Amino acid sequence: MSIVEYKAIVEYGDRAIIFVGMNHFYPLVVQRGQVMHSKYGAFPHDWMVGKTFGSKIWARNNKGWLYILHPTAELWTLSLLHRTQVIYSTDISMIISELEIMPGCLVIESGTGSGSLSHAIIRAVSPNGKLLTYEFHNERADKAENDFKLNGLNHLVTVHCRNVCQEGFDITSEADAVILDLPIPWEAIPYAKQALKPGGRICCFSPCIEQVQRSCMCLRDHGFIDVKVLETILRPYRVKKMELPIANTGNCESFQSNERSDPSTSHHENKSKRELLSTFPVATTPGHTGYLTFATFYPQE
Ligand SMILES: C[S@@+](CC[C@H](N)C(=O)[O-])C[C@H]1O[C@@H](n2cnc3c(N)ncnc32)[C@H](O)[C@@H]1O
Repeated sequence: MSIVEYKAIVEYGDRAIIFVGMNHFYPLVVQRGQVMHSKYGAFPHDWMVGKTFGSKIWARNNKGWLYILHPTAELWTLSLLHRTQVIYSTDISMIISELEIMPGCLVIESGTGSGSLSHAIIRAVSPNGKLLTYEFHNERADKAENDFKLNGLNHLVTVHCRNVCQEGFDITSEADAVILDLPIPWEAIPYAKQALKPGGRICCFSPCIEQVQRSCMCLRDHGFIDVKVLETILRPYRVKKMELPIANTGNCESFQSNERSDPSTSHHENKSKRELLSTFPVATTPGHTGYLTFATFYPQE
């Protein structure tokens, strides 16, 4: 069982993501004899085994339900236990694309934090690439390592517990990309330069613009080129059928065609309302998360 290899049927020991309603996801390892309790009811794990991923499962009370989903990097980001701030899929997609992370790449990341970004990188580099992830907080490093194991990813990732601002990384001129999600990324930039191969790319994720300024200066001082800063803002849209009043502008044709299309409605309704497909941005959109600073490393002649 692995996030990077899809399988159809749920078995004991599988990692699954449980969906119980809009934006409510929980990670779970399916275990013999265990019961998942929630406000929607009790769900014996034994009832999940043998079902196809994506199935709806009813609670013992026959009222509540859940869907059992195959884990993906995106679902993991939505369901993981937050031990730190995490990077979400909108920023992750920009990072993976800008750093050109693809199967076979060797990628360095620090800090590991809750492992949200790590899972997406691992999926992007699989089946033959590798992520080296560095975290100086002992417990976080251990928990991330355990998550990678339970999610069937430990052959694609190595977790190092260390302060990268003091000790740097383990490799020289080998990494395709380095991602720094640290409070003081500029202290790790000289080590990132050492680890990157010629043409390798770096990304610093920083919530504050003052961090961005220092990172940009440091990147330039160390000979990085193509320095650019982005902020990704997601603007989701909804498509919905709506009945809208039509203004009488004297355009007889539109009133006549409306009448022809729906003879069942009353004369008055026909003339004043029309069902239309409407598209609009959702009321609450996610705001600022962080700035993404990208640059490329080429050794100086
Ligand atoms: C914001 S979190 C990273 C979140 C992660 N990108 C994710 O998506 O889950 C920052 C992490 O960097 C770690 N950290 C901070 N300074 C560090 C350093 N000098 N060396 C290694 N890890 C460090 C912190 O312990 C923390 O877990």
